[in-house]
Amino acid sequence: MSAQQGIALETMLVDAGADSLIALALRTTCEPGETVVSTAGTYPTFGYFAKGQGCRLIEPSYFEAPGVLAPDLEALIAAAHQENARLVYLANPDNPSGHLHNDSAILKLREALPDSCWLMLDEAYGDFRDDAGSEFAAKAIPGVIRLRTLSKAHGLAGLRIGYAIAAPEVLAMMMKVRIHYAVSSLTLAAAEVVLDHPGEVNQHVADVKSPP
Ligand SMILES: Cc1ncc(COP(=O)(O)O)c(C=O)c1O
Repeated sequence: MSAQQGIALETMLVDAGADSLIALALRTTCEPGETVVSTAGTYPTFGYFAKGQGCRLIEPSYFEAPGVLAPDLEALIAAAHQENARLVYLANPDNPSGHLHNDSAILKLREALPDSCWLMLDEAYGDFRDDAGSEFAAKAIPGVIRLRTLSKAHGLAGLRIGYAIAAPEVLAMMMKVRIHYAVSSLTLAAAEVVLDHPGEVNQHVADVKSPP
């Protein structure tokens, strides 16, 4: 999987879908009572898991303007500083707004967050980006835990498989709290087949993007 996706093996951790990785990354980085920040109205599972773990959840509103609904990066940064947050969650592209913040906005966000604050970058819909195969897309970014899934463009939602991209030290911590047999061998075999057929995946993406 790492070779097919062009991701260095030591920066990749496979687990049972993006949701499982959200829970895993939260358990790795946050203690009960610590504060996390997410956008009100974004993909809600992050908030469910954060609250379930006893974290304090702060949710700034979306940025809204005519024709624009987007996670408000300035508001996320301000909340992270004001509330001494341990982690900020951002879905990029966002669900449900579909808004995509570009790479330079993501790097600026990372720079503007406190050093002690993680950025959890949920890229479940990253395969639908026009630049999905870019070099940036395959890179571990310091202070960032990137999450990907084969549930969307690859159509394997029911088989439960995804992966994180992060620095090896972070992945080593995640490995310690991970359920080691979370991904079945049947799922791994199916993932290999799908990843060996990028044309099929590209067709799914094109079908989703094409007007009815
Ligand atoms: C933004 C986002 N992240 C994660 C998920 C969950 O993905 P998975 O099936 O890999 O757990 C979804 C599913 O709808 C999603 O929209």
